[in-house]
Amino acid sequence: MDRRMFLHCGASALAVGTGLLLGSCRRSNTIDAAFAPYPHDPVRAENFTNPLFIPGSEGPFGVLDVTDMPLTLSASAATFPILAGKASPFLLYETSYAGRTFQNPIFKIKRGGRFAATLHNGLNEPTIIHWHGLHIPAKMDGHPNDSIEAGKNYPYAFTVNNRGGTYWYHTHAEHLTAKQAYGGLASFFIVEDDDDLRLSRALDLKLGETDLPLVIQDKRFNAAGELVYQPDPVEKMMGHLGDIMLVNLTPNAFLEIGPRFYRFRCLNGSNARIYRLAFMRGKQPLAYQVIGTDGGLLDRPYSVKEAFLAPGERLDVLFDASQLRQGETVFLKSLAFDSMDDESAMGMARSNGGGRLGDSVEFNLLKLVVTKTAQGPRDVPTRLSELKPIDIGNATERQVRLEMAHMRWRINDETFRRGVFPIDAQRNTVEVWDLHNAKQSMPHPMHMHGFHFQVLSRKNSPAQIRALGVHGSGRVVSDLGWKDTVLVWPGETVRLAVDFSNDFDGDQTYVFHCHNLEHEDADMMVNMRVRA
Ligand code: C2O
Ligand code: CU
Ligand code: CU
Repeated sequence: MDRRMFLHCGASALAVGTGLLLGSCRRSNTIDAAFAPYPHDPVRAENFTNPLFIPGSEGPFGVLDVTDMPLTLSASAATFPILAGKASPFLLYETSYAGRTFQNPIFKIKRGGRFAATLHNGLNEPTIIHWHGLHIPAKMDGHPNDSIEAGKNYPYAFTVNNRGGTYWYHTHAEHLTAKQAYGGLASFFIVEDDDDLRLSRALDLKLGETDLPLVIQDKRFNAAGELVYQPDPVEKMMGHLGDIMLVNLTPNAFLEIGPRFYRFRCLNGSNARIYRLAFMRGKQPLAYQVIGTDGGLLDRPYSVKEAFLAPGERLDVLFDASQLRQGETVFLKSLAFDSMDDESAMGMARSNGGGRLGDSVEFNLLKLVVTKTAQGPRDVPTRLSELKPIDIGNATERQVRLEMAHMRWRINDETFRRGVFPIDAQRNTVEVWDLHNAKQSMPHPMHMHGFHFQVLSRKNSPAQIRALGVHGSGRVVSDLGWKDTVLVWPGETVRLAVDFSNDFDGDQTYVFHCHNLEHEDADMMVNMRVRA
């Protein structure tokens, strides 16, 4: 049975099971091209007229230095103007400090600094915060079972020992993560260390000016401009795609730049959409340098023309705008690709993004226009940081299969169950995992809490990945640094190494899950216990 057949069967079983009538299963290549333009359509370059939202020192996404500074974070339902000033219902983390108020603050902390915050649940349903990418005790990590009821508080206090880099935080409420994260409960958590400072000094980069966090998200809105999240059964299985692209919550954004280096800390904060990022001058892809991944800086910059970015992943890049003329325009785009799940009725829903924007369409994310004249330093450091390979000499091996059975995505045949520990590891040991994605499947961005890992190899990659797997052992550029989330394509085997060393008290129970948030909420997640 090939993949197409399998998905056909899956689709009809789903249709029977839900009473849906899905119609023909055959995908037409003309569907995506045929839909009519719509307001905020990101395919149309002329729509890009909104100044990119840049974080300031207070207000929405204000940067807040939290080194050794306790605060209270209140999750609450509010409104936020996204589409042309129209207030949309939105969920926000609010806090105030020294007379300044913040919504979804961007936390900044020095490596080694102490973080303390009390989460207050001001929603009318359970919630909890997860600090994505931080190496902290499980009780601090925001395990879904630690979700708190409306009106309750949860205290966090931990030391941030992670490398400098671009981390983030978001809701992890059991079975409500997709809805709450889509609704707004997410922001950045930036850790600074000496390597970072050295880079900033060398290229004269300033956070909020030439060093910009960019959270990329796809959303849907109703005619009143309000955010809509109503996944149907097919979207619950394949992931929810939006048709309006937001960068820092700005639809159709542009940014005025000068002829110098810019650092863009790209975060895929989407529920399910994968991006294939390229900087395009007309039809020509410009080279850019990848300098960091989920867990901070790489050993050196790597020049590429494109890279995939899956939900949960970060990609830190340098873009050299000095190669552009005054007045010239470049677009950060997502190029078309084969989502590998689009040969079925289920996939068709996904490839069309619920009717409009599928993976097989190239679209714009951010327009860059050279209007400034100030230049900057030209010498990118040839060494950025030190990456020590994990010693796998005494590693134990673990096989992890990702596949669908009985209409649910599973990890080694399991879906999430409280008190069951399908991954049971031992502190101070090293493990080598083979993540096998079934042939009849879709891409799954797999995420590990509590620990970062190193990608050792990719095998049986689909052609579009093999073409990018030029960095040894089939690895793509985003595999070259410390990772907490890795995209595994259908048929592929990704081999990784993880070191479970920690000095936390007692057994630690984290989760390992798919960061397609619809998959996560449908329990494509298992407990991962690290025994003391
Ligand atoms: Cu960013 Cu368990 O998630
Ligand atoms: Cu996480
Ligand atoms: Cu998945």
